[in-house]
Parts: sequence; structure tokens; C-alpha cells
Amino acid sequence: MAGTGNEQARKTAEGLAYQTGFGNEHSSEAVPGALPVGRNSPQRAPLGLYAEQLSGSAFTEPRGHNLRSWLYRIRPSAAHPPFVRAERHALRSAPFTDCTPDPNRLRWNPLPEPTGPTDFLDGLWTLGGNGDATQRTGMAVHLYYANTSMERRVFGNADGELLIVPERGGLLLRTELGLLHAAPGEVALIPRGVRFRVELLDAASDGQSPTARGYVCENYGRPFQLPDLGPIGANGLANARDFRAPVAAYEDVEGPVEVVNKFCGHLWTATYDHSPLDVVAWHGNHVPYVYDLRRFNVIGSISYDHPDPSIFTVLTSPSDTPGLAGVDFVAFAPRWLVGEDTFRPPYFHRNVMTEYMGLIEGAYDAKAEGFVPGGGSLHNMMSAHGPDRETFDRASAAELRPQKIDDGLAFMFETRWPLTLTEQARDAGHLQRGYDDVWQGLQRHFRL
Ligand SMILES: [Fe+2]
Repeated sequence: MAGTGNEQARKTAEGLAYQTGFGNEHSSEAVPGALPVGRNSPQRAPLGLYAEQLSGSAFTEPRGHNLRSWLYRIRPSAAHPPFVRAERHALRSAPFTDCTPDPNRLRWNPLPEPTGPTDFLDGLWTLGGNGDATQRTGMAVHLYYANTSMERRVFGNADGELLIVPERGGLLLRTELGLLHAAPGEVALIPRGVRFRVELLDAASDGQSPTARGYVCENYGRPFQLPDLGPIGANGLANARDFRAPVAAYEDVEGPVEVVNKFCGHLWTATYDHSPLDVVAWHGNHVPYVYDLRRFNVIGSISYDHPDPSIFTVLTSPSDTPGLAGVDFVAFAPRWLVGEDTFRPPYFHRNVMTEYMGLIEGAYDAKAEGFVPGGGSLHNMMSAHGPDRETFDRASAAELRPQKIDDGLAFMFETRWPLTLTEQARDAGHLQRGYDDVWQGLQRHFRL
């Protein structure tokens, strides 16, 4: 049923306006005059709106890390009945204690298709993570597979921010601060506490029903920021101007709307008597955004050796230790390889950081087979990994002409702590058996 809602959402997504920049003090009003001038909380806010501050950081954090937005809305968020516990399906949160942390290299095929109508929220499936949502440390890796839009329900996550990485099917994200369109190849970030609804835009290959799947990095720690550039200079990697924040857009809907709140790992639900996506104007820097990974300014070697993959960091969540991220989001975007006398694919290594990799499209240059779009691999702390046998043999013998890598878009969630699986990930039918085999048969070449 490629419904008219689906068509309408697609038209809406295509016509969206945005504000650009990363970390800006943005402001926007859907109705002229809705935004107070010169103060945040006037005695009577314009147009009979309620003023409400949404704080993403403690009031007292340094200015450089302080995040908050002022929302001017038809009803305050406080006007709701009690929240009650709700079914969380396959969504899990840190701490992850059901499984023993596993040092083995693991790889999964894509999630199986849902068997019944499943929206984005119900379609979230947690692979694992680390840290503790109640301590605001660590991260979780989720996948999603949805075949219906969220209807008369919105979701907000008190536990952390959500970095959504679509792999199949575009998403229209209706947030409190406005609308975002996120297609495969783009990523969207929903800040902690911001409520949103996900509508699907694209029909599956059968043309009958919309479908969407992808990955989510839930970051319990410090909000993602752009990495420092050091000697790279003032420009490069993800440029701030390419991040797009929404403009104010509100819905004035009376009647029951379910608000699902993820709080300390559990889902809680309350039925509002109106839509909470009723923010007519706002200003601030605690904002959702979307970023096109194809805008990433890839920087690499123009002499020899493959730089460490940190050179591909799009966003980083810093920890209390300088240079040590709670989680980095890293993208392997199209680029040229020109290294002389260099083994060009990523090298063999063991890493104190833990790497979860996913594939948005095409193929990844260190894995000839088995790593497919929608799938993922986990190389936990200190596990030995690198190119598979076939890739090693090919790359060792390749003629080193300049080569464009443009047939794939892969990414990594790289985290400072080992990642513990959920039981459903450990026991999944789509967990590949025999992933170790890709490193078998690496021949001994040593000769005296
Ligand atoms: Fe690695």
C-alpha cells in the first residue's frame, strides 16, 4: 500500500528548508512574531505561546559545551498524564550484562524483515553496547527495520542522543524543532530529549509498501562534536557549514498522541491530548541536524602509508581524557588512493578501541566478500583483524596507480570500551558462522 501519506511525506521532505552550520545559536519562527525579542521568558510570550527551555547540558557547563534551546509552543510539555511502562520489543540499553564480553571477531547479515507492521521505534533492535545509560557514559549499537510510519506517536530519548544512519529508504523526521529529511548516505542526529516522529518515504523494490532500515548509534556520553583539526588547519573533514538544522514547523493537532519516553533503558508511555510537536518558534543550539556523508572532505596520504582511520572521523564524543573518545563516528567516503610502495587497504591491527562497522552501499576495500549493506562487523578491544586473505593477496600484487575508491560507503562506530552483545545479537540467525575463515590461508612468506 504505497499510501498517499507516503507520497505526501516524500513531497514534504523534498521541499524542506534548512539553517546551516554546526553548534550555532540558531533561531526560527514558523509564524512571524512568534519568537520573543530581547528576552527568553517574557511575562506573556508572543501569540499566546508557552516558553520552555530544553537543556542538553547542565546549566553550568562551560560555554563551549553548553547546550540548550528555548521552545515557544502551543502547550507546555509538562501538560501530560503519568507515564507507564511500555513494551520495548528488541530495544535494549546499557549496562549490557546478559552476555559475557566476547573477544571473537563477529559479523552479521542484515536484520530479517519484520513479519508485521513495524514502525521505526518498534523496529529498533539492539546489538550491544557499553557504559551505563544512568551514568551518561558509553554507547549502544542499534539497527532498525521498519515498514510503516509512526502514526499518532512520538519518541524521545532521555538516555542519550541518537545518530541515525539510514541504509535503505529515506526518512522524514518530524522533530519538535522542525523537519529533517535523511536519505541513505546521510546521517541525522536527534539530541537527547528532543521528541520526534519517523515517517517512511520510499517504497520497497516490490513497490507495494514503504521500507526503511539502517543503524543507530545511541550516545549516552558527551554530545557529538566536530573533531579538532590540529595541523590539518581551519578546514577539512566534515565542514561545519554542511550540517543542516531544521526551521521551525509545528502541527496543531488536538486528540490523543502517544509519547514514548526512553528513560534509563526502559520505555514509558503517556497519551497526550495534543501533538507535542507544537513548537511554533525556537532558538538555541540543542538542535537536531542532518549531514550528507558525500560532503565529507576526505584527507589522506599523498606520499606513502595508510593514515590511521581516525583521519576519517566525522563526529566525536569526547571523554574526560583528552583525545580518548567515548565514541567516534567515522565514515569511509569515496576517495583517491595514491600511496607509493604502500599496502593501500587498511592494515592488519589490534586496537584498544572497539570497532563496529556497517555498510551503507557498495563494498568496503578491506573485505572482498561477506560484508554486505545492512550488515555489520564487530572487532572488539584488542581483537586481531585487517584485510581478508583475498584482499591481502590482491593488494600486495596490485600495480600502484592512482585509484579511485568510489563504489562503497562504509562507516564505523569506534568506542573506548569493549562492546558487550545482547542475547539476541549473540544468538541471531543472521550472525555469520565462520567469519574467522576470511583470515585462514594467509600464507607464510618469510624467507631467510
Ligand atoms: Fe580496525
